[in-house]
Amino acid sequence: MVVSGVEGEELEEFNELALSAKFEPVTTLTASLREPNPKFLIGSGKLQEIHALALEHHAEVVLFNHVLSPSQERNIERELQCYVLDRTGLILDIFAQRARSHEGRLQVELAQLEHLSTRLVGGWTHLERQRGGIGVRGGPGETQIELDRRQLRQRIKQVNQRLGKVSKRRGLNRNSRNKVPIPTVSLVGYTNAGKSSVFNQLTAAQVYAADQLFATLDPTLRRLELPDAGAVILADTVGFIRHLPHSLVTAFQATLEETAQAGLLLHVVDAHSDQRHANIEQVNAVLHEIGAQQVRQIEVFNKIDLLPDQQPHVERDVDGRIRRVWVSAVTGAGLDLLRAAVAEFFSSGTQVIVLRLPLSAGRLRAALYALGNVQSERVTDDHALEIELEIDNANFATLRRSVDFSEAMIVTPDAKRQTIKTQTMTLDLKRRA
Ligand code: GTP
Repeated sequence: MVVSGVEGEELEEFNELALSAKFEPVTTLTASLREPNPKFLIGSGKLQEIHALALEHHAEVVLFNHVLSPSQERNIERELQCYVLDRTGLILDIFAQRARSHEGRLQVELAQLEHLSTRLVGGWTHLERQRGGIGVRGGPGETQIELDRRQLRQRIKQVNQRLGKVSKRRGLNRNSRNKVPIPTVSLVGYTNAGKSSVFNQLTAAQVYAADQLFATLDPTLRRLELPDAGAVILADTVGFIRHLPHSLVTAFQATLEETAQAGLLLHVVDAHSDQRHANIEQVNAVLHEIGAQQVRQIEVFNKIDLLPDQQPHVERDVDGRIRRVWVSAVTGAGLDLLRAAVAEFFSSGTQVIVLRLPLSAGRLRAALYALGNVQSERVTDDHALEIELEIDNANFATLRRSVDFSEAMIVTPDAKRQTIKTQTMTLDLKRRA
């Protein structure tokens, strides 16, 4: 059974999540969560209502479309005497079922273990009782918890070590790719927007595309030849969703690094969804979290076959930059426009970027000069170096991937300064008028 504080498309999406996790919602109850009750999240009257409904429909699991604190989850489980899963738990469950690569599976396991370890904090008193433990402290229940905790810690350590090895290997692979610098184009988007379908159409590859949320969990890379612009690497990535559990964003950080280092993002949007603007915002919020907010985007408004009278077309900003391409991955309409848009991005246009580096970053400075078009350079009052360079889009994309920017800072157009914490520097762009 599903308990939700919202209705409409958000509730529909949660039901889809439940189906994706192979749960079959037997009934749904919407409850106002305006004044959350610290013990149960919902009021005790509602809890009784849920209990009665769960019994009536023989529900085995109660899914909450909300994040529950570990103690709330425990309290509700104890009252309802059935298994309770909150939004985070449900998403983790889906990710666990979908992860395909070794690394993806390890990342999800780590997120699950960490989620579980927060559930163990403070003790499992209700389960202790079920296990025959006596009292909150001491007794067999407590021993069991200690054992669980120790095992959890050991497993977390083990998974972390394995992940370290895998990610090192991936770093080496990426370095060898960088030797022949080919820009990467990453497909990002809200789950089910059609990223894999667009990817398949563009590369004519058969990546698993299914009407399931999070069908793609591991980045898939393919080489794509573009008319007049050479080759790019196209990367399909994990789908995003609102309230993506933070532990998952952290777990997938390494995989999502590919996105932060891309030369261009194709932000695929389900143009048919009522929530399309909210979904765009959610995706941008996650991009911000992984340090990819400044990578240039072209929005791909997909599924136009579901919109009456919508023809494939390209929308541009006032300065002529391509902002959005309307396509249908199913009918193939507009995909030629999309290919041409990516080619145009990499083959034409220059941008002016301002980099701020410490005076000691001599190698980076030399690398920037080797690229040619340094417009100006100055030493600031606080003894930093600011270099302004004009660079064409294709070079810019490869520059981001092949130079180590770990020490650098950027100067934003409104003159606010921002330290870049991610390993790769996110550059700020100012376009020449
Ligand atoms: P995640 O892996 O969840 O992130 O999904 P995704 O964004 O990769 O979406 P995917 O390509 O798996 O497509 C999701 C569903 O939308 C599938 O059922 C597709 O057949 C359908 N779909 C994709 N593109 C279109 C389109 O242009 N038109 C229509 N009508 N359906 C589409």
